[in-house]
Amino acid sequence: MRPLFIAGNWKMNPGTSEAAVALAEAVKAGVGQETRVRVALCPPSVFLNAVDGVLENSPIGLGAQNMHWKADGAYTGELSGSMLVDAGCTHVILGHSERRHGMHETSQEVNEKLKAALAAKLIPIVCIGETLVEREAHKTDEVVGTQLEESLKGLTAEEMNGVVLAYEPVWAIGTGKTATPAQAQHVHAFIRSMLREIFGEATASRVIVQYGGSVKPENAADLLACPDIDGSLVGGASLKAADFLGIINAGLAVTAKGKA
Ligand code: PGA
Repeated sequence: MRPLFIAGNWKMNPGTSEAAVALAEAVKAGVGQETRVRVALCPPSVFLNAVDGVLENSPIGLGAQNMHWKADGAYTGELSGSMLVDAGCTHVILGHSERRHGMHETSQEVNEKLKAALAAKLIPIVCIGETLVEREAHKTDEVVGTQLEESLKGLTAEEMNGVVLAYEPVWAIGTGKTATPAQAQHVHAFIRSMLREIFGEATASRVIVQYGGSVKPENAADLLACPDIDGSLVGGASLKAADFLGIINAGLAVTAKGKA
């Protein structure tokens, strides 16, 4: 049975380290020593050190939102995997749609970053997902499949065991429109079938695939109860401790009941 994994992607929020510390403290207090659902916080990189300090003696992981594929050198404005580890990171989000679409990041670059993240011993959270235009053109499986193949290219089954995937339909991110549990489960099952084809059954059954896109305390339980949805990557609702804890509690309730 795969454990549920709930990660908060704070994006370019909150505005100050003081607010970041307060948010992390509130989440830490709510999670306590609970480990039946895995949790990670992904603050802006300038707040990583401060949040790492808060998360001492907590099972909550710390993630960055991006990294460069090179280990060091003349890459102005970039951060390497080893720098993130030094700042306390356990995880790193790669290929978020806001980077793929806003910063023109390609799956080839995501693939380079993924290999560098694994070399640095970080757990990558690799995001894939279709736009509304692609969904309406019935190209969801094709787009998601190509992103998956290209982003994971060259990885061994063993390396894949250390990778988390996040299916995030672009049209559902920050829009208040959530994929229905049936829509999300369909794509998650497709992702798992591709993992089976590429890496074999043992790996496919172990890889955690999060859903992301307007996840809230009210819709989390129905999404998390789907057989191939193993957690969520939460944006907006991770900025309010009560909402984020509500999603974690939904995950705990689903875990306690077991999946259908
Ligand atoms: P959202 O963002 O929860 O605000 O839709 C999710 C994400 O972008 O990871």
